[in-house]
This record gives sequence, structure tokens and C-alpha cells, in this order.
Amino acid sequence: MKKPLILAALLWSSVVLADGKPNVVILATGGTIAGAGAGVANSATYQAAKVPVDKLIAGVPEIRNVAEVRGEQVFQIASESFTNEHLLTLGKRVAALARQPDVDGIVITHGTDTLEETAYFLNLVLKTDKPVVVVGSMRPGTAMSADGMLNLYNAVAVAAAADARGKGVLVTMNDEIHTGRDVSKSVNIKTDAFRSPWGPLGMIVEGKAYWFRAPAKRHTTGTEFDIDTLDRLAPVDIAYGYGNASPTAYKAFAEGGARALIHAGTGNGSVSGAVVPTLQALRDKGVQIIRASRVTGGGFVLRNAEQPDDKYDWVVAHDLNPQKARILAAVALTRTQDTRELQRMFMEY
Ligand code: DGL
Repeated sequence: MKKPLILAALLWSSVVLADGKPNVVILATGGTIAGAGAGVANSATYQAAKVPVDKLIAGVPEIRNVAEVRGEQVFQIASESFTNEHLLTLGKRVAALARQPDVDGIVITHGTDTLEETAYFLNLVLKTDKPVVVVGSMRPGTAMSADGMLNLYNAVAVAAAADARGKGVLVTMNDEIHTGRDVSKSVNIKTDAFRSPWGPLGMIVEGKAYWFRAPAKRHTTGTEFDIDTLDRLAPVDIAYGYGNASPTAYKAFAEGGARALIHAGTGNGSVSGAVVPTLQALRDKGVQIIRASRVTGGGFVLRNAEQPDDKYDWVVAHDLNPQKARILAAVALTRTQDTRELQRMFMEY
């Protein structure tokens, strides 16, 4: 660590010791929360990933009433452009900060398009009970009634809250606190865009967290995965089920090196008769087949219900939506190729 950084860290920790407020680090990655539009009426027309982290923090001075904060600009991208490498880089930085005794909580500002994927990934691989809170916004800070300022304030307040420890990776959007496992972007253009099919964990109001339930699945300190042992994620792709579906996409993904295919099926993860033979053939070649559902918002894919999963040696994604199923498969396949082991992981995480 360079001399100025040492001095900055010493100053930061001395200020904290004097002041007693929790230390929260804000890692910025881009997205709309860092976006800028041409005018105050542009709530949906803007450029994402423009505003640097220090300006984001300066835009919400009240943050300093709840925590001592400092920012790091990890990326400056729109989140639809996230790759597995971005996930690994971000996860390793979060893990390193979480190990620091002078860091009490971490906030990640992120585009909302793939925020749910990053939050679930971190929930799977971080071995810390410190609060890690992922936050975004649906409107740029330049728009009327922008939501980013309060979302960021809420995220820092949750990251600084002692009772947020041990709850896994969290997402704060629109006054709600969600588990990174369940939440997804369910509306593409409103401020109350993020929903969890089993409901939020709680709410954050005027800087105080109110909790109403706890996560039910394994996460963070209870996980068997570890970001520090991961240097790559398995290539996994998703293909949609629909009327008149063809097997072309599945074949192309497998030829492209996919180690698993997530079938975003109709209803209970059903597979068209025109596609089943291709999936069976790909399974025989060692590609894992994981049935998810294109139907989101509650429910789960039941094993051996409309498809003989045992006979075909397929996996079901349980209640995970297709994009989250991809994240778990990409991590799980770095540890096992065994179908039963994969199915266990999909039931436990
Ligand atoms: N390009 C989208 C992203 O970075 C903007 C959406 C947002 O952040 O709200 O995810």
C-alpha cells in the first residue's frame, strides 16, 4: 500500500475512533445511480455510468451523519455489460475490505439491470457477516424526484447497522431491504422496480432498519463457496422456452463452450417436445441441463413433475429465476460436475 494511502487510512481510522461512527466503504460500479440526463424531465432518457463515486457521496452529505464513508471507483459501466470477470474482481475487492478490522460495512452502487445477479453472486461467495449492501436507482440524479440519493443514504444506513450483520448480501431499493438471493428487477421503468417473490426482509425509514423476516437459504458465512478460491466461473447460458421453440440456441451455446444450459421454460420449466431430444443429446455429451421457469414472481420448478428429471439426469432451479440460476451454476460447476450435488446446491442456496 502506497504511503499516501497509509496516511489516508490512518487518518480515516483515527477520525472514526474519535467519532465512533461505523466505517462504510462505497464501491462504485456505474449504472443509473451514476447516470446523467439532459434535463430534469429526463427520468428515463440519460447516460448511465457518468458520475464518479466522490460526487455521488458529495451529493448526499447526510450520509456522514450515519457513518464515516469513503469511496472507491471499481468500474464505471452500465450493468448490462457486466461479465464473469467483473463479478470476480468486485467480489475479491469486497472480500478484502470485509477482512479489514476498520471496515464495518460495504455499499456497492450498481446498475439495476443485473444488480440482482451481482447481489446473488456475492451472497454465494463472500465469507463475512458484515453488511454488504447493493444499491442502484431507477432515475438519474439529474431528474425530478430522483431516487438515487435516498437509496444511497438508506444503503449506507443499513451497511452501518449492527442488526444488518449476518443477514447475507442485501439490496436496498425504494425504502425496502431485500435479500440478494430473492430480489429481482420486476418492473423496468418505475422506482418500485425491485420485488422479492417471498417479500422483502424489512424496510429502512429515516435511517433506521426495521426487520420482519430472515433469509431461509445458505449464504455468506454459511456458504461452501469462497471468492478467494475462485479465479474463473463456468460458462453457462440461458435459452428461453416459448411456442414454436427450436433447439438451435441450445446447440449453439453448447458449441460455444457452455458447461450448463439454463432452460427458461414455460410454466413449471416445461420443455417443448421439439427441444427435448437435443437436451438429452447434450446431457449425454456432459453439458448440464437446468430447468428454470420464465414465470417469475413466486412458485418454483418441481422436480419430476412434467419432465422425468431423474431419467434424463437433469437439474431443476427450484425458485431461482433463470438469470440467478446461471449465477449459481457458474459457481457450482467450479466445484462439481455431479448432478445430485448440483441439485443439492440448487435446493440449499
Ligand atoms: N443501463 C442500466 C444499468 O446500468 C441502467 C439501469 C439502472 O441502473 O437503473 O443497469
